[in-house]
Amino acid sequence: MKTDGTCACGPTLSGDQLTGVARRTFIVQSALLAAAAALAACGVTADATAPALPSSGNTINVSSYPSLSAVGGVAMLSIGNAPLAIVRTGSSSFVALSRVCPHQGGIVDQSGSGFQCPVHGARFSQTGQWTGGQGTSNLHAYATSYDAATGVLTVS
Ligand code: FES
Repeated sequence: MKTDGTCACGPTLSGDQLTGVARRTFIVQSALLAAAAALAACGVTADATAPALPSSGNTINVSSYPSLSAVGGVAMLSIGNAPLAIVRTGSSSFVALSRVCPHQGGIVDQSGSGFQCPVHGARFSQTGQWTGGQGTSNLHAYATSYDAATGVLTVS
């Protein structure tokens, strides 16, 4: 601010101009609030959080799950309190998905070649991408590490 009351960063706004700026700010803020309310009304709100996995005991022996013997196979299991879907995506690659629906926390089930939430019908691909139904985000995918020599899959 200069000593004459004007701002060094640009022209000083008059009372009418300030009113115009305030009006535009109000309109923009109102539009943002309306958009947030519309998203909440259609159910696209803060996603449910996928459960954290324990720091130990988060391994599975793949040979214990016959459904994982072939690429495309799925095993439904829990590690700690986290319900998971393990999908074999290659000879030595896996995807570990949280079965907690990111919409409002329903537990997704297998449906066709992917998954579906029984609560509001969100659908997901076999690798967890949202594909339709209730709008939401993708299923949470945990990191996986597979030791082919031992057949042990670590999920973290
Ligand atoms: S909880 Fe609403 S679609 Fe899953």
